[in-house]
Amino acid sequence: VNRTTVPPPVTMVLDAADAWLPARMEAVEERLRALVEGHGSALAADAGATLAAGGKRLRPMLVLLSAGPGAGEAAVRAATAIELVHMATLVHDDVLDAAPLRRGRPTIVARSGRARALAVGDLLFSRAFAELGKDGGRRQVELLSRASVGLALGELAQRRDAFDLGISADRYLERCELKTARLFECACVIGDPDSGDEALEVFGQGLGLAFQLLDDVLDVTGPPERTGKARGTDLLDGTVTLPLILARERDHSLGEIDLRRLDADVAEAICDRITATGVLEEVRAYAGERVGAAKAALRRSSIDAERLQLLELVADGVVERYS
Ligand code: IPE
Ligand code: IPE
Ligand code: MG
Ligand code: MG
Repeated sequence: VNRTTVPPPVTMVLDAADAWLPARMEAVEERLRALVEGHGSALAADAGATLAAGGKRLRPMLVLLSAGPGAGEAAVRAATAIELVHMATLVHDDVLDAAPLRRGRPTIVARSGRARALAVGDLLFSRAFAELGKDGGRRQVELLSRASVGLALGELAQRRDAFDLGISADRYLERCELKTARLFECACVIGDPDSGDEALEVFGQGLGLAFQLLDDVLDVTGPPERTGKARGTDLLDGTVTLPLILARERDHSLGEIDLRRLDADVAEAICDRITATGVLEEVRAYAGERVGAAKAALRRSSIDAERLQLLELVADGVVERYS
């Protein structure tokens, strides 16, 4: 955030966060590094590269913000664990999607092969639960396990739906709910699992759904310098997302394409045809509505004003990133 261009209430919130959030985020980074070290040279290079490639660290930030400045070790641990699960799913996702690029760099499956990528993903998954297990956070283990199962079911559903141009918007949304929203939902409650704040859960779920919708728009628009991957990556692996589901209603010729016979150039040309129908605005607007509803839920939660504002800023940031 550029502090000179944001209004004073926002800077005030950022300053308040400055007093505690950066140090905790750094603690998470340190743990991530420590956790993937020391498990054999076969996995070290690829696991280390996954960490070093960066990423927005959005989920750990949600964990820390939702739990607040008063939360202790358990929140840092949970934030670390959730980022590990996120990274594990990305490594496995790139195997399933046969993706060449992630965060602007070759994926592990592209660089080191499928076997190595599966093993690195497994390592990251198992380290996540080892981290949570350290002080017996049983409820936390259950929450993260539930989210991980959701992710797996979502990825399976996506494979089952692959190359099918006829899938419905509802089916697509159900997939997004499983593969992305569940982990966001988990992030918003796992730092302080005994608070029982359902409004935070609803917030995380809405934000996560919007996040996936907007990621799917970005797959159509690029640009690659910004997304770290080529346009049309979803089409190339047969993943039909909301932009195409809506676009095929407006441009019936899009209903005739054979998704199994695309190359990178044709996929980009289809992205242009999807854009030309005007549906991207519709998807962005729908995502915006979901974020609005998520923020409304947040205001019904029992968290304090500072955390409320910080979480709203994160929610706005998610939308802004894609506008
Ligand atoms: C990518 O998530 C996977 C989706 C759910 C769309 P992020 O965009 O948060 O990935 P990184 O960690 O910032 O690379
Ligand atoms: C999100 O789906 C992946 C997971 C939630 C595991 P995508 O397949 O759209 O994510 P990207 O585009 O590869 O980051
Ligand atoms: Mg993918
Ligand atoms: Mg994507």
